[in-house]
Amino acid sequence: MLLNPLPVLSALVFAVTALAACGPSCGFPDSRCENDVCICNNSGAAACPNPGTFSYCPNFDTDQYACGSCSNYCTKCPSGENSCPDGSVYTCVNMKTDSLNCGLCGQSCPTDASCVNGQCVCPPGHSLCGDSHASWCAETMNDPFRCGSCYGFCERDKTCRNGKCVPCQAGFIQCGNTNCINPLNDNQNCGDCYQACGEGSNCINGKCETNAGCGSGQVKCAGSCRNISNDNNHCGGCDIKCSVGKNCSGALCV
Ligand SMILES: *[C@@H]1O[C@H](CO)[C@@H](O)[C@H](O)[C@H]1NC(C)=O
Ligand SMILES: *[C@@H]1O[C@H](CO)[C@@H](O)[C@H](O)[C@H]1NC(C)=O
Ligand SMILES: *[C@@H]1O[C@H](CO)[C@@H](O)[C@H](O)[C@H]1NC(C)=O
Repeated sequence: MLLNPLPVLSALVFAVTALAACGPSCGFPDSRCENDVCICNNSGAAACPNPGTFSYCPNFDTDQYACGSCSNYCTKCPSGENSCPDGSVYTCVNMKTDSLNCGLCGQSCPTDASCVNGQCVCPPGHSLCGDSHASWCAETMNDPFRCGSCYGFCERDKTCRNGKCVPCQAGFIQCGNTNCINPLNDNQNCGDCYQACGEGSNCINGKCETNAGCGSGQVKCAGSCRNISNDNNHCGGCDIKCSVGKNCSGALCV
């Protein structure tokens, strides 16, 4: 029996045209050519390139070389390791120790922390602060705002030593720096925290006093100009007295 040659010929012409537009390597096994792009029938996505041979149409759910998309390798990992995305491919990592995938894929530890048993661990004296989006290792041994932990806050009459809030000496306060200061004579915290005395003035009894009327090198102490470099009662600052047997020289009791 003879075939009608005309439909056979036109089918052949159509097939050759489709191949020509997408190239002879268009998706295996089940694809079509649309607008010069080789489209997979199973996924509706473009066929995956396969260098040197025909492009192909993987099952993105099960193909370990095209996991979710072309060229995404799902690696079969040794036991104890997991497959985590690394750019466009997957790599095997040990999530117990990998500081870029610590406990979870993509959960990275701060640079100064290490991954131990799937947890980011900071150096001694530091705590892991922040959340899963951004974390850092904070110093928590001497910081009165982070004393012993990220949220350890010392009251203002206490400061932080070895991760514990300890009382300042009587009359002293803590102003967020690491030391207890005396607000009666501290030029940066005069009378209260963060009340700095300006250039040319000094904190005397909790008030900023100017040196107006005094010579250079002199400081006004309770209304009088004093040479704090050699005054035994105001040695290096107002009301700093040298003990008996010592003289003030160069602002030091010697
Ligand atoms: C792929 O889909 C096209 C368009 O629906 C269809 O013409 C073609 O026969 C399909 N290919 C295969 C191998 O089934
Ligand atoms: C302060 O005392 C020093 C040391 O005796 C002296 O060299 C200096 O001139 C004095 N300054 C003033 C302003 O008196
Ligand atoms: C302090 O100064 C006095 C008076 O100038 C002097 O007699 C004494 O020896 C000095 N003391 C010291 C420790 O330098």
